[in-house]
Amino acid sequence: MRNRRWVVIPAAGRGERFGGSLPKQYAKLGGRTVIEHTLACFAGVPGLAGIVVPLAADDKIFGKLTLPNLPVHTTIGGATRAQSVLAALEWLQNGPAADQDWVLVHDAARPLLARADLDALIAECEQNDVGGLLGVPVADTLKRSSGGQVHGTMRRDDVWHAMTPQMFKLGPLERALRAAGPEATDEAMAMEMAGVAPAMVRGSTDNLKITTVGDLLVADAILAAR
Ligand code: CTP
Ligand code: MG
Repeated sequence: MRNRRWVVIPAAGRGERFGGSLPKQYAKLGGRTVIEHTLACFAGVPGLAGIVVPLAADDKIFGKLTLPNLPVHTTIGGATRAQSVLAALEWLQNGPAADQDWVLVHDAARPLLARADLDALIAECEQNDVGGLLGVPVADTLKRSSGGQVHGTMRRDDVWHAMTPQMFKLGPLERALRAAGPEATDEAMAMEMAGVAPAMVRGSTDNLKITTVGDLLVADAILAAR
């Protein structure tokens, strides 16, 4: 039997750069919250066994949302994104999942993930049997700068923005995140530190992460244009 697929949607952040009275995952985008869009991206994907959502301990909003027609379990997240992801992975390991099941980790703050990109990532990872992530090549020229001065220009022909989903097998990912500690800023980096070369699957710039209020305006425009 093919390994099952699980989704982890870290949503325990406070959205400090976004500001406002509610965390950004609960901001309104086209009539519903950002995270409702994010969860809906996974509705109808074949072979998904369930979704785990790490939340802040004092979250009072998630329970009122409209959820997709999939088993959704919540856990308490941690102080960092990696700790929130680990809390969800631990719940899966101690609960319904097997060590070699696949896990797709996708930021709650990326509500515009396209189904074609998700399908492409799943197909690549299940074929290479290691895992990978969505990303896009960097478009801008990149400078090294400190103290208000430019010290150099970076070659960017092989530089990519890392996005999510990032898809790896549950056990290897959990062990890699634990071993990497706070240094790893995403799942792929933890796997890289464990000696694995994740696949980079080209996605769409539409799959933006809402960090500031300006990003929400861009997301609104993209949604309206679809
Ligand atoms: N996240 C999490 N647990 C944390 C920190 C972040 O689950 N302790 C989640 C966020 O909710 C978000 C995703 O990880 O969906 C990406 O993180 P980021 O964009 O940095 O969100 P925040 O940490 O909430 O924002 P900020 O860094 O501006 O405070
Ligand atoms: Mg953050």
